[in-house]
Amino acid sequence: MKVLVYGSINIDMNYHVDHIVLPGETISALKFEKSAGGKGANQAAALAKAGLEVYMAGKAGRDGDFLLELLRSYGVNTGHVAVYEGPTGHAIIQLDKNKQNSIFLFSGGNGEITLEEIDSTLESFGKGDLIVLQNEIVHLGEIIGAAAEREMVICLNPSPYNPDIETLPLERVNVFFVNEIEGAAMAGLPACRDFQAILERLAARFPAAEFILTAGPEGAFYARGKERAGAPIVESPVLDTVGAGDTFSGYFIAARSRGYTPQEALDLAARAASIAVSRPGAMASVPRADEVF
Ligand code: RIB
Repeated sequence: MKVLVYGSINIDMNYHVDHIVLPGETISALKFEKSAGGKGANQAAALAKAGLEVYMAGKAGRDGDFLLELLRSYGVNTGHVAVYEGPTGHAIIQLDKNKQNSIFLFSGGNGEITLEEIDSTLESFGKGDLIVLQNEIVHLGEIIGAAAEREMVICLNPSPYNPDIETLPLERVNVFFVNEIEGAAMAGLPACRDFQAILERLAARFPAAEFILTAGPEGAFYARGKERAGAPIVESPVLDTVGAGDTFSGYFIAARSRGYTPQEALDLAARAASIAVSRPGAMASVPRADEVF
């Protein structure tokens, strides 16, 4: 089984600040670091570090070469990343003294992926292969449709969430990774922390799909039809939470692919995420398989 991550590749510009800047306010950063990120690239790194055969597809400018080299050093095949004659996507990240973050994105190459590139990439994948998607690239609906035609197993993390998600062919998705805000929106509920109510509604809406709902300090939950599982977070010193959700998704998928039950996969993914939050950066913070399994 091959895993194709069709997703974003971002240069993360991390600014450590006293507090997240307020409207109209100017503040000075206490520290700056440039690092490798993008939800797609982070998830590809996590899947590869967890031991799967991973292919990254997307689009990046020449300024993103360091990022592709890093992915390759983790074992990710980057042969399906198209070259963009413009800037790589980037994320401006503020990290405050309470470890809260705030992010805004510039899409760069992530917004320039073409339908021709998608067709040509998907030709190399087929029945039973996995495709992992997030919401930081263009043409998501077309990618889901083409992957479903090829009978690939489709995993979607609809993050960052926006109402356009509802225009996607969601009935063709096999596995959803959502946080409580995304989950509530897809369930047609107001934002709430009644995770079981969210899962009930989601499982009723898509009875064949698997849902993994991450709930911050309250852990993570799993649902498919009537089946349920849940795992608390694994406590660890928190340094930087950026990329922890991507680590969780990558390790959950890897654990399931290695034959672990949903309950075991939640526990392993929680352990992986707890290690990621204790380290700086996004992609670089993802633990190796021998630290998790
Ligand atoms: O999920 C974390 C990622 O979101 C960061 O690496 C940043 O690039 C944004 O895409």
